[in-house]
Amino acid sequence: MRTQVGIVGAGPAGLLLSHLLAQRGVESVVVENRSREYVEQRQRAGVLEQGTVDLLVGSGVGDRLQREGLQHKGIHLQWPGERHRIDFEGLTGKSVWVYAQTEVVKDLIAARVAAGQELHFEISDTAVHDIEGERPRLSFTDSSGMGQSVECDVLVGADGFHGVSRHAMPTALRRTWERDYPYAWLGILAQVPPSTDELIYAWHPDGFALHSLRSPEVSRLYLQVDPAERVQDWSDDRIWTALQTRLGLDGWALRTGPVLEKGITPMRSLVSTPMRHGRLFLAGDAAHIVPPTGAKGLNLAVADVAVLSDALVALLSNGDPSLADAYQETALRRVWRKTHFSWWMTSMLHIADDDDFDRQLQLSQLRYVSTSTAGATGLAENYVGLPFGV
Ligand code: FAD
Ligand code: PHB
Repeated sequence: MRTQVGIVGAGPAGLLLSHLLAQRGVESVVVENRSREYVEQRQRAGVLEQGTVDLLVGSGVGDRLQREGLQHKGIHLQWPGERHRIDFEGLTGKSVWVYAQTEVVKDLIAARVAAGQELHFEISDTAVHDIEGERPRLSFTDSSGMGQSVECDVLVGADGFHGVSRHAMPTALRRTWERDYPYAWLGILAQVPPSTDELIYAWHPDGFALHSLRSPEVSRLYLQVDPAERVQDWSDDRIWTALQTRLGLDGWALRTGPVLEKGITPMRSLVSTPMRHGRLFLAGDAAHIVPPTGAKGLNLAVADVAVLSDALVALLSNGDPSLADAYQETALRRVWRKTHFSWWMTSMLHIADDDDFDRQLQLSQLRYVSTSTAGATGLAENYVGLPFGV
């Protein structure tokens, strides 16, 4: 096989890149080690920045998003006895949308399949070769057990945090910045109408809690837990009781209902360079991950791809390498901004240990961002997202 761009990973980054390239006449092959059903059902992000929505709508994959996505003009910050709204629209003129990552992935796969795109699911043994030469290559075993090799002009690793592409960068050039947080999120999907019209981020001495949603009928909620906790030790009753305690407020009630799914996710920040070496480029979680408190991971993957698609079109269609040469620097500016914001939101809202000094600082910070226009604007501007390329 031969193609212009070989893409590893059919998550949001790989699928969107393939779609944006095809629209501008650049062909690609996408390979994915999971099944189509698995990637379409994997529960993850729920909040899209306005820039992400504009890109999806502008590139023709936003019809369902426009019909079913829920526009949110603010969020609530809470601590015991107090709930404050941060008015994104009033502070920044922008808003965010609740539309699940599962739906974005379904829409992108449908578009790729309708366009007759080469999209290989359930592959194994993915490997990238000759990234420093003129003809890099992607090899894998296809779903029928046949060995395949794709000769490419460029390779893109969009294979997430557990992928192989980051590890294909030369060891001598690699640099990693990492922070493991001493807590994890227990997330549930519940068949119950949301008890709130906007997300609630709650600080509580027992630990952080978040009330999010998926639709008028389905809620998504999270609890801070110890990373060593086992999901089987959390009965539905135990989860609802903890959520009631942490999210509770006089005059407000949490609706409960059947739990459709539950899982525990560790929290980590990681930035890895290079994001480009020779003819291998990395995009999305393959190069960086953030803790989910700021709702940034998916949006950051989309931002990488917005920059990378321009760079690859210039390189492959016009022979102009300048944007490709600038890709890492351009992408990293945004990556570090979002890494900081995600770390800051996480640090402000989670309970790390029994240190009352830290807790008083957190409460002071929460009061400041909830009551000062300057404080609230910083949070709002970062949450709704900065323009691509900034
Ligand atoms: P992925 O979605 O991880 O896709 C990578 C793909 O590559 C996968 O399909 C994987 O199966 C495939 N792959 C891996 N290895 C190989 C291989 N060797 N060969 C072939 N294929 C391979 N972000 C937000 O913006 N907002 C949120 O509200 C939010 N909430 C989150 C909540 C949770 C609980 C979690 C876990 C994450 C959340 N995120 C959020 C983060 C977001 O889900 C990720 O940042 C996003 O999935 C990154 O997309 P990606 O395409 O880079 O990587
Ligand atoms: C979600 O709806 O899954 C969600 C929302 C906000 C976050 C993280 C996850 O910060």
